[in-house]
Amino acid sequence: MLVHGQPYRTLWMTDDATVRIIDQRRLPWSFELLDLRSVADVAHAIRDMAVRGAGLIGATAAHGMALAAREAASPAELQRLALELTATRPTAVNLAWAVNRQLAAVAAAGFEKRVAVTLAEARRVADEDAAMCAAIGRHGLEVIRGIANQKPGRVVNVLTHCNAGWLAFVDHGSATSPVYAAHAAGIPVHVWVDETRPRSQGARLTAWELGQQGVPHTVIPDNTGGHLMQHGLVDLVITGADRVTRGGDVANKIGTYLKALAARDNGIPFYVALPSSTFDDTLTDGLREIPIEQRGEDEVTHLEGVAADGSVQTVRIVPEGSPAANYGFDVTPARLVTGLITERGITAPGLPGPE
Ligand code: MRU
Repeated sequence: MLVHGQPYRTLWMTDDATVRIIDQRRLPWSFELLDLRSVADVAHAIRDMAVRGAGLIGATAAHGMALAAREAASPAELQRLALELTATRPTAVNLAWAVNRQLAAVAAAGFEKRVAVTLAEARRVADEDAAMCAAIGRHGLEVIRGIANQKPGRVVNVLTHCNAGWLAFVDHGSATSPVYAAHAAGIPVHVWVDETRPRSQGARLTAWELGQQGVPHTVIPDNTGGHLMQHGLVDLVITGADRVTRGGDVANKIGTYLKALAARDNGIPFYVALPSSTFDDTLTDGLREIPIEQRGEDEVTHLEGVAADGSVQTVRIVPEGSPAANYGFDVTPARLVTGLITERGITAPGLPGPE
């Protein structure tokens, strides 16, 4: 997608031994690229959220395995580095999916071919991710078009939570991909962007990327969506997902469940957009089985922003000594989900996807 009018992906290989990423910890204050040259660099970038979002975590891990293949002198060493990568964040299944895909590719080709095989596979993972997200956009566009046809000449209002945009993938995004497709098709569309505390992925990342593409949007505090729905100001909700069970339970950024409840109470369609790499067919009960990441208190007790003099500053917003809890994700039961928008089409949760 575009950054200052130039097309970018969120990561790429600059040469066989360097992975270049957009450092999302710096957005929107500054646009900086960061080079990752070792498995330790990649693991740190994922854990510290220089890259984040299920799809991009998976693609970065796939590239990290290409670096691991150079570092590992034995199959056992490759396994150890694979574990180092999968241990970085627990909820997004794309991480283990990408690492296991690389291990399977090496196993099939033979350990001596590991460098070439993992490089090619990393590039394939990135290209497939971008292609799946583009297809999600084409399918989701028809949902937005259907709503637009019911209110000719009026704006379609989409509410989204967190960042399930191109910054959460290699390109296009999941939840934002239909929005970009609608915008490109000339459908008047506006996005309500949940700020998404504690790390403010909506306010910082989704607002930035929508702005870069020229899509009208408004940032709202996380508690505003229900009010907007009660007053007819939301036509549909589209979120992303970090892991979706066989029955269609959806793990996504903390607060997603409350939006799904409010949408159900107000008769508003609640869609989840995801590539097939986000399904975890081994799980049946999302609430019991999906591991929920808990992160440090400091993400809740402190906020980063830009001061009037342009300097980036971090301030404490709760009293000294007050404990804080930081659950990264919640699970929205399948019964609250209107449809899953995948690269293969749209399906009701719990039903087999379209072929
Ligand atoms: O903690 P994050 O920023 O990695 O969480 C991201 C989300 O929850 C996204 O909504 C999710 O990954 C779906 S889009 C890939």
